[in-house]
Amino acid sequence: MALVAAAFGFVIVRSGSRDDDYSAITVRGYLIRRWWFLFLCAAGVLVTLWSLIPYPLQAGSVGAPRAIDVVGRQWSWDIASRSARVGESVSFRVTSADVNHGFALYGPDDQILAQTQAMPGYVNELNVTFEQPGLYRVLCLEYCGVAHHAMIAEITVTEGS
Ligand code: CUA
Repeated sequence: MALVAAAFGFVIVRSGSRDDDYSAITVRGYLIRRWWFLFLCAAGVLVTLWSLIPYPLQAGSVGAPRAIDVVGRQWSWDIASRSARVGESVSFRVTSADVNHGFALYGPDDQILAQTQAMPGYVNELNVTFEQPGLYRVLCLEYCGVAHHAMIAEITVTEGS
């Protein structure tokens, strides 16, 4: 703190004696500083605007995903389509016919990719882009009765145009 205070004191004392400030070098310094300031303002505005662009537009995938309706019920999944292609974007529209279920999508490596609630009276949209071929599984993640563990469905993702 003493060092910082000393530095401030030094600057304050020195700032009183500016007699030959407008040398060519000083003018040039002010000019550079002004352009640097304007550059930082412009960069700040651009970065802020970029951050406001929705992620799908940033990623370039503007096309609407394919909608697949999903209904969970005790104790099965009713999935309108159980196949997709690699690279395809799908919007699962998930609801429930009875109680709350948990719609969870697992990849071919059995890692969970995405999940949402399946709720009676609501439709939750879950957007997924399939990045590798294989057998994907849907499991229920919300305890929903004696056969909760049996709520398993499969989705096949194939290479293709
Ligand atoms: Cu459905 Cu647990």
